[in-house]
Amino acid sequence: MAYLAPSILSADFSRLAEQVKSTEEGGADYVHMDIMDGRFVPNISFGAPVVKCLAGKTSLPFDVHLMIEHPEERLADFVTPQTEYIVVHQEACRHLDRVVKQIKELGCKAGVALNPATPVSSLECVLGELDLVLVMSVNPGFSGQKFIPYAVLKICELDEIRKREDLGFRIEVDGGVSTENAAMLVESGADILVAGSAVYGAGDIAARCRELKKIIE
Ligand code: DX5
Ligand code: ZN
Repeated sequence: MAYLAPSILSADFSRLAEQVKSTEEGGADYVHMDIMDGRFVPNISFGAPVVKCLAGKTSLPFDVHLMIEHPEERLADFVTPQTEYIVVHQEACRHLDRVVKQIKELGCKAGVALNPATPVSSLECVLGELDLVLVMSVNPGFSGQKFIPYAVLKICELDEIRKREDLGFRIEVDGGVSTENAAMLVESGADILVAGSAVYGAGDIAARCRELKKIIE
């Protein structure tokens, strides 16, 4: 059984709370929030005020994906009573072990994301400290991109390592997730599926969540 984390990047921001509620009604498990700074990725999305604003408007926990440079300077901005995961990019952290510890000190679970071209081996030393590894299956920056197939190999590799070494981190996959590839991703070892356009691009958001949940449960 896997969890569904719809990304609000694809939502209608003028109706954000209402649309997030629809995902909750449809059985979504997290609110995935894509924070982009226009430097680490070629796009600017939204910042901490939006995250804070949504706290209390839904009972779902938050999964905050920071696609920003120097995330260590801003971690506390994204902490709300509902922030469960804070995910930073391996490529954005010069002192990754320190950043992971900072996230935990703030009372959140620590996740690290890997761009498509970044190997799983880059996390070898720190894997035992992580609550989550996010495998990017598109180059971060935009929703609605095509799924990169070799991301599946990285999910399998992570699943193999955690079984072999008896580690407890969850595996999340983000980018191009759809009703077509969801089952395969869970079979490969993914525990949390992020879906932006596949959920918020649907005519009936709650119904699409139910459909995806049925596939991944
Ligand atoms: C991409 C973001 C994703 C994005 C997913 O940089 O991290 O979370 O919103 O959108 P889809 O599911 O449409 O690829
Ligand atoms: Zn994301």
